[in-house]
Amino acid sequence: MSEPLYFDHNATAPPAPGVPEALAAALRDGWGNPSSRHGWGRRAREALERARGEVAASLGATAAQVVFTSGGSEADALAIRGPVAAGAVATLVVGALEHPAVLGTARAVARERGLRLIEVPVDAAGRVTPAALERALEGAERPLVSVMAAHNVTGVLNDLVALGAVAQRAGALFHTDAVQAYGKIPLDFAALPCAMLSVSAHKIGGPPGVGALLAREEVPLAPYCGGGGQERGRRQGTEPLPAAVAFGTAARAVAARLGCARAVARRRDRFEERLARAVDGVRFAGRDADRLPNTSAVLVRGADGAAVVAACDERGLAVSAGSACHGAGGGSAGAILGAAAPGSAGEWGLVRVSAGPDTTDAEIDEAVVRLAEAIGEVRSREDGRWR
Ligand SMILES: Cc1ncc(COP(=O)(O)O)c(C=O)c1O
Repeated sequence: MSEPLYFDHNATAPPAPGVPEALAAALRDGWGNPSSRHGWGRRAREALERARGEVAASLGATAAQVVFTSGGSEADALAIRGPVAAGAVATLVVGALEHPAVLGTARAVARERGLRLIEVPVDAAGRVTPAALERALEGAERPLVSVMAAHNVTGVLNDLVALGAVAQRAGALFHTDAVQAYGKIPLDFAALPCAMLSVSAHKIGGPPGVGALLAREEVPLAPYCGGGGQERGRRQGTEPLPAAVAFGTAARAVAARLGCARAVARRRDRFEERLARAVDGVRFAGRDADRLPNTSAVLVRGADGAAVVAACDERGLAVSAGSACHGAGGGSAGAILGAAAPGSAGEWGLVRVSAGPDTTDAEIDEAVVRLAEAIGEVRSREDGRWR
């Protein structure tokens, strides 16, 4: 098979330079428990606090605002469950196209606690508009708002500044899931109008299994599961020290990743132009909206997204149908299709193509060739048609 091409950075990014070494070294030499009161513990604590500072610096936050979690999903869960457990929330207000880590948690918590849940409808590009949020918040009691910074499938950005202003006027706690935005667009927690922000290490070349919730000091985050008083009592369980240290290493490289954003966007545009020339009946969801520089949500007429992904895999091209966590074509993919190709749902498949900071023009051109071939093959097969 020809050289494999990885275009699934939104699922997981390959390790950033130094990350495997940092992970191995921390596991081998720095494995103490940060809560222990002896040399091993002190050294572990120092390494953990260094990593906390590195993560904070990559996000314009202070170290005290960083709560380490097991990843983006737990950071989202903590952002919702923590304030609810503290009794600070009576209404949950979430975007209709949020990641299941937010939507699923909000629905479960609303059911468990008998809270009011409002799922705010999105516009044709999949965004929560300030006007829609304002309407949702009318008369809402003690609201917590969660709207993602960038969509994981389309890369479309929400206007956090405008949404934050609306949330603030309504006295809402405002959380943003910035898991996909992290390392792709600048995020400055000090300047953003949100009280909480979620990130995950494996989206920026850190290891999976570690992430962070940034939370301003005044945010009430009560424990929602049993355990020790780690992370200043805001998150229970022994900290994942080796993973956190490696997260810190990846966080140090965020500035360099952001420095590539313009070149990454130019390559994304090159990909879309070439694919549209090579294949009839393709569109790009969210193309006219502000979006992440690396992400193309390709809508393909007359071909099932999952079948195209399988045909790409046979050609050594790694892409995904919708998103890795939603499964093929399900969840938000269906909603995105409905919004981006109205009236034709059922005829369009969705393939997400997400590049990295080091992707080259030559790889882009080769990806177009393989994807075009894959679409052609699927369209020619009876069983590959949209189902
Ligand atoms: C927007 C968004 N939120 C949350 C998550 C979950 O993050 P993790 O895989 O670290 O649990 C993802 C993962 O794809 C995501 O894209």
